[in-house]
Amino acid sequence: MIFPIDKFKERKTPFYYYDTRLLNATLDAIEKELDGFDNFNIHYAVKANANPDILAIIANRGFGADCVSGEEIDAAVAAGIARSKIVFAGVGKTDDEINKGLDYDIACFNVESLEELAVIDELSGLKGKKANVAIRFNPDIKANTIEQISTGRKENKFGISVDLIDSVADALKHCENIVFKGIHIHIGSQILEMGDFVKLAATMNGLAGRLTARGLDVESINVGGGLGIDYHNPDEALIPDFKSYFDVFKRYLNLSDGQTVHFELGRSVVAQCGSLISRVVYVKQGCGKKFVILDAGMNDLVRPAMYKAYHAIDNLTSDGNKEAYDVVGPVCESSDVFAKDMMLNAAARGDLVAIRSAGAYGEVMSSNYNLRPYAQRYTDLTV
Ligand code: LLP
Repeated sequence: MIFPIDKFKERKTPFYYYDTRLLNATLDAIEKELDGFDNFNIHYAVKANANPDILAIIANRGFGADCVSGEEIDAAVAAGIARSKIVFAGVGKTDDEINKGLDYDIACFNVESLEELAVIDELSGLKGKKANVAIRFNPDIKANTIEQISTGRKENKFGISVDLIDSVADALKHCENIVFKGIHIHIGSQILEMGDFVKLAATMNGLAGRLTARGLDVESINVGGGLGIDYHNPDEALIPDFKSYFDVFKRYLNLSDGQTVHFELGRSVVAQCGSLISRVVYVKQGCGKKFVILDAGMNDLVRPAMYKAYHAIDNLTSDGNKEAYDVVGPVCESSDVFAKDMMLNAAARGDLVAIRSAGAYGEVMSSNYNLRPYAQRYTDLTV
């Protein structure tokens, strides 16, 4: 990736930089795979990055949104995403959030428990409305990803156990203010093994068959999100392998006439276009190692501290020989480490570094811990 370093030099660091040209190229690549598949629908997972500029670019493509809070629904609507294309998941939807979804006539509530189904039925009845729902099932599929972001195992809090499918079918028949739309499964995030999505498709086929046999009309098949990206070699894979991903569903879902397929991609859409840009405050000699101390910390990008996640780091302003550094932030926590033994061009105070692949689950997960201000954002709309 080519960074506009001259523009960076005059800015206060740290800041999130978004390359909108790459975002648009990524969206083009998705649209290419959807060509000829009018029944495939994208609902961008707003949780990955809710920056209004990014949302506006995605809204401009006519994509829908996958939201997990009332505030995300507001952000999606403010960005111009059609209410009729918003799906709403989450295990703990409050009455206020459900009422908002009903008032906005969103496309679908992805329901995560029988208890929630009863509340949506009641609240929509009070408004004299009918709520569209999909049932989120927990398929007990172990996706090949880090444990904290695996969601489809039976011990995870998400979705309704497949074992309860008959109770679900019974409950749906008794709900007077609900329109059953279909099924939803999300098995986890940062998944690079296409075999995991093949298992998901097979599970979907089985569940749709069982519900159809119970007399329910399964119109919508929502396969969640989860496609991973290459954190180790971002420049070699700036655009994820959408072809292999969509091919799985084109090939393995047994669809009947009128069925629609829904995707909730987040990370794969926005991760590579974003970098956290930071200045080196000090280079300090440690015990047998050198620390690069940045003005960005774990409060700006928590993934390395929280998940031991790897993010590539580039020194943008040095062409000195590569050396190994522990790259750390200023926060008073030993886990405020972005990378250990990272090979960087020889670093000096004042250098600018880019922490790569930070467009997803970066800015949205930041905090002001240590009373540090939130990082600025720089969405380069001119490139
Ligand atoms: N749909 C549902 C129901 C989800 O729970 C998620 C992500 C997505 C879609 C989007 O998944 P994606 O395409 O982005 O993989 N903070 C973690 C990731 C948490 C993902 C939560 N759910 C991280 O930084 O890796």
